[in-house]
Amino acid sequence: METEVKLTKLASCAGCGAKVGAGTLVKLLEGFKSHTDPRLIVGFDKSDDASVYLLDDNTALVQTTDFFPPIVDDPYLFGQIAATNAISDVYAMGGEPKLALNLMCVSDQMDKKTVQEILRGGYDKAYEAGVIITGGHTINGAEPIYGLAVSGFVHPQKVLTNSGARPGDVLILTKPLGVGVLTTSAKAGMVDKSVMDRIYAQMATLNKTARDIMVEYDVHSCTDVTGFALLGHSFEMAQGSNCTIHIEVEKIPYHKEAYELSEMGFIPAGAYRNREYAQAGVTVKGDIPRAMQDLLYDPQTSGGLLIALPAEQAEECLARMQEKIPQARIIGYVTEPVDNWICLE
Ligand code: CO
Ligand code: CO
Ligand code: CO
Repeated sequence: METEVKLTKLASCAGCGAKVGAGTLVKLLEGFKSHTDPRLIVGFDKSDDASVYLLDDNTALVQTTDFFPPIVDDPYLFGQIAATNAISDVYAMGGEPKLALNLMCVSDQMDKKTVQEILRGGYDKAYEAGVIITGGHTINGAEPIYGLAVSGFVHPQKVLTNSGARPGDVLILTKPLGVGVLTTSAKAGMVDKSVMDRIYAQMATLNKTARDIMVEYDVHSCTDVTGFALLGHSFEMAQGSNCTIHIEVEKIPYHKEAYELSEMGFIPAGAYRNREYAQAGVTVKGDIPRAMQDLLYDPQTSGGLLIALPAEQAEECLARMQEKIPQARIIGYVTEPVDNWICLE
């Protein structure tokens, strides 16, 4: 539904594009002292998707949060996308999400109906994921913001961090790129509604199916591709794993409309931030058009999973995914460190 209030007009930046750049974040957190706990399996020191805390031999708690300004005018859809995106970090750890709390900022221009539709979108999407929203916290502020704090569970031996990739692994990406370019261009009225409907549906698609299939294989590493873009998140995976990630650019799934807009220079600010953050770690081999490179730095809101698993299992895993996620692709492979953290080829 559309209400009289244009949600995206109330926000200065959209979706994961509002994320503080990875480079800036590193500087802001520099020198911050944190404590350790022997039960904390994944914590503050790692730039991972969620924290993981050991409860007993068979259970670890996964906790994460994500929230952002509207990326779409339809409040119900905004709620769905925000929830899909927040829950995704539990899937990226290999976990099963179970409980969530709403985080919301309401601006003066938002009426009751708009607020309720956002919350309903979040609630319904969470429920689809098997998650119950049990409450939350709402504040007043200049811009609308919505998201969730999500808790889930994972077997302590089955935690998937973004730092476990190994030489010999192959990389699967489960959603096509171009979301940042398209949502930014849509604000300027540059994109057909039918195209945006496809993008909105993609952003509101849970990574549950991809997660449920991947956990049946010996996955070594996983992260979801969101605000830091494919290359930002790959960079973190490569560094954390002390491996080189090779991306075979012609295999990357992307929206062709995003490529066309990228060629015309419609690049969101977040893409420049991501390039600044990661490009020293990226070696470009061969002739890869600038428009394509920009898509690799394009911030994705509610993007897909990036999964590293042994080459001998990758084809079967991908085939099973493609039955339900036709756009999933093998996009590269992992080796011992050579040249640089990421190699575009
Ligand atoms: Co994430
Ligand atoms: Co996140
Ligand atoms: Co992970």
